[in-house]
This record gives sequence, structure tokens and C-alpha cells, in this order.
Amino acid sequence: MKNSIADLKTKVVIITGASSGIGREMALSLGKAGGRVVAVARRIEKLNELKEIAGETMLTIAADVAVEADCQKVIEQTVEKFGRIDVLVNNAGISMNAKFEETDISVFKNLMDVNYFGSLYLSKFSYPHLLETAGSVFFISSVVGKRGFPTRSGYSAAKFAVQGLFESLRAEWVPQGIHVGIISPGFTDTSIRSKAFNADGSLRGADGKTAGKIMSAGDAAGYILDAVSAKKREVILTGAGKFIVGVNKFFPKLTDTIVNKTLG
Ligand SMILES: NC(=O)c1ccc[n+]([C@@H]2O[C@H](COP(=O)([O-])OP(=O)(O)OC[C@H]3O[C@@H](n4cnc5c(N)ncnc54)[C@H](OP(=O)(O)O)[C@@H]3O)[C@@H](O)[C@H]2O)c1
Repeated sequence: MKNSIADLKTKVVIITGASSGIGREMALSLGKAGGRVVAVARRIEKLNELKEIAGETMLTIAADVAVEADCQKVIEQTVEKFGRIDVLVNNAGISMNAKFEETDISVFKNLMDVNYFGSLYLSKFSYPHLLETAGSVFFISSVVGKRGFPTRSGYSAAKFAVQGLFESLRAEWVPQGIHVGIISPGFTDTSIRSKAFNADGSLRGADGKTAGKIMSAGDAAGYILDAVSAKKREVILTGAGKFIVGVNKFFPKLTDTIVNKTLG
């Protein structure tokens, strides 16, 4: 990770979902090294606490990525402050934990608004700036964006949409000089499961089931920063994550049984 920090601290990097978990760890590593990091999330107080540790080169912006105008503001304020954008990491995300038939339609819409549309708005508004710098956009998806899981239908669907957007943008933008990459973490030790939606849209408030060895947020952030610096195309994190995606390719029916045992 040392080399990736040295490389990325010369760049202007926007990280969404920087108030907790993986995004916070990424922003902290870059900020502490003196990098020009733009930390984005709804909870500005958490971002400001982060800036106190990370240092003056960090710009914090309160924004709801589900709101198009907020995303436009993020790009405008970044360019106003730093004059350029080199890397956009679409990391903000939210999950669910409920059976499909019991889940309120509004939950599916919320999941799509944050995970998919949030990434889409920021990618779209940053395009002219990334073109100028021959920059990169990265999507933080999930293993559930490669293979559907029970009790995660809306989250899986939103991350599959992210995967589709990634593949199309990669085809369109790489020939124009913009790198496009995607990282799919497996189970990571963050608050995502306790903040997941219940069927009625309330927040779960307790950590949910996991399987295999859970990765720390710091380790996930390190792998992601390495992938961003190395301009990797696609990375899957955790042994269990790689296993499930690999098995699903050749034995999808067997994988149905495995995912039902894991989260069903
Ligand atoms: N942890 C895992 O096991 C795991 C596995 C696979 C993939 N991932 C992916 O990794 C990414 C990071 O998640 P995490 O695990 O670090 O979860 P986390 O600790 O819950 O952090 C989620 C971040 O997203 C932000 N966020 C949520 N809704 C937002 C909105 N509407 N607008 C702006 N920011 C918003 C939150 O900030 P505010 O609440 O302050 O807005 C928070 O900073 C997500 O895309 C997630 O899907 C995580």
C-alpha cells in the first residue's frame, strides 16, 4: 500500500461514503499522507472529525449521493478548490436484509438511488474533468453484484446495475483515456449490515450473518487503494468472495445451495 499512497497523494481523489467503514479508511490513509482527498457523505460531523485527524489537504462535503444536485455540487466544489479531478471512487453504499416478498417497494427504490444512481450521477458530472486529466473512475460494488444472494435482492440488483454501468463505461471511456475499474468486496467488518434496511425501510440496527473470514475495513481499503493506483480493471476481495464467484461460473445450481446456507 506504501507505493499506492505515494502515487495517489499526487492526485485529487474524490471518495464517497467517507464517513465510515472502507471509505473512511481510504480517506484517512490518503489524507494522513498529505493527499488532496475530497471526503463525501451525509454526516458532515463525521467527515469533520476525520479531517481533524487527516489534515488540511482534505476537503469535506456533505452530500446525499441519491440527490442529483448534491452530486453536481460535489464536482463543482472539488474543481473550485483543487482545479482538477484525477480519481473518483464511488464507494457510498447501503444494503438490506429482508425477504423479497415482504419488502416494501420503497426499499428497492432507495437501494437503487444510493448504490446505482449515486454512482451514475457522480461519474457523469466528473466526465469532462476526468477527460482532461486522463483520470480514473472506480466503482465499489460487492460479491452480491456478481451473484444474487437471498435477503439481499434489492442490494444485489443495484450492484448488478453498477456492474453493467461499469462494463459499458469501460467500453466507452477507456478508448478516450479514462480508466474505469470495479472492486467487489466480500464480507468486511463495517457498519453496513447494522445500517441495512429491514423490510419496512427501518434500519436493522444489529450486525447480520456473515460467512468465512471477515476482512477488516483497513485491509479492504488498502487493497482498493492498490487497485486504484495500479489501474486494475476488476478485483474481487476475500477468499470466500473469490470462491463464490468462481464456483458460480461453473456450478450455479450448487451455488444456490451455498448462498441459501450462507444468508438464507
Ligand atoms: N462491508 C461489507 O461487508 C461490504 C461488502 C461488499 C461491498 N461493500 C460495499 O463497500 C462500500 C462501503 O461500505 P462499508 O462497508 O464501508 O459500509 P459503511 O461503513 O456502512 O459505510 C457506508 C458509507 O456510505 C455512506 N452513504 C450511505 N448512504 C449515502 C448517501 N445517500 N449519500 C452519501 N453517502 C452515503 C455512509 O455515510 P453517511 O451515512 O454519513 O451518508 C458511509 O460513509 C459500499 O458500496 C458497500 O456496498 C461492503
